[in-house]
Amino acid sequence: MTTAVCPGSFDPVTLGHLDVVRRAATLFDDVVVGVAKNPGKSGLLDLDTRAELVRAAVRDAGLDRVRVAVVPGLLVDFCREIGAVAVVKGLRGGADFDAEQPMALMNRHLSGVETIFLPGDQRYAHVASSLVKDIVRHGGPVDDLVPAGVPEALRAALGR
Ligand code: PNS
Repeated sequence: MTTAVCPGSFDPVTLGHLDVVRRAATLFDDVVVGVAKNPGKSGLLDLDTRAELVRAAVRDAGLDRVRVAVVPGLLVDFCREIGAVAVVKGLRGGADFDAEQPMALMNRHLSGVETIFLPGDQRYAHVASSLVKDIVRHGGPVDDLVPAGVPEALRAALGR
């Protein structure tokens, strides 16, 4: 059985994230979505809330073989603990690659784990968690950008 991890901040999970997870699940026997802290991002939702929203989205999408966990420390330690052979990340474009390449190389340096990049689907090329939060902050609609439950969670966190 080959296990892969789809890591990310998921603050919050978007339909773009979910598409990458769904496609990863067609390539690996076992996929674990790892919800982790990115020190470069301030973070709105707490990790458990983010993981719960991803769990609901995965369940609603019928992705039975996908599990969701909070990554408490280094991603490579989490990969080792669960026996993951690869990290899978989606790339919307060059800016994503520039951000992801150093992390992929560092993770391989630390543990040998390889990262596989999937091209983001063009339908979601404009969808980013940061934009979603900004739209909600200003009272705009995000229902067609994120899974069910996410707009309400964001409104609650932002006091909207
Ligand atoms: O969705 P993001 O913000 O691009 O995901 C980045 C994330 C959370 C996967 C990355 O910051 C991470 O792996 N954090 C866990 C701690 C860690 O392993 N840091 C070293 C990365 S080389």
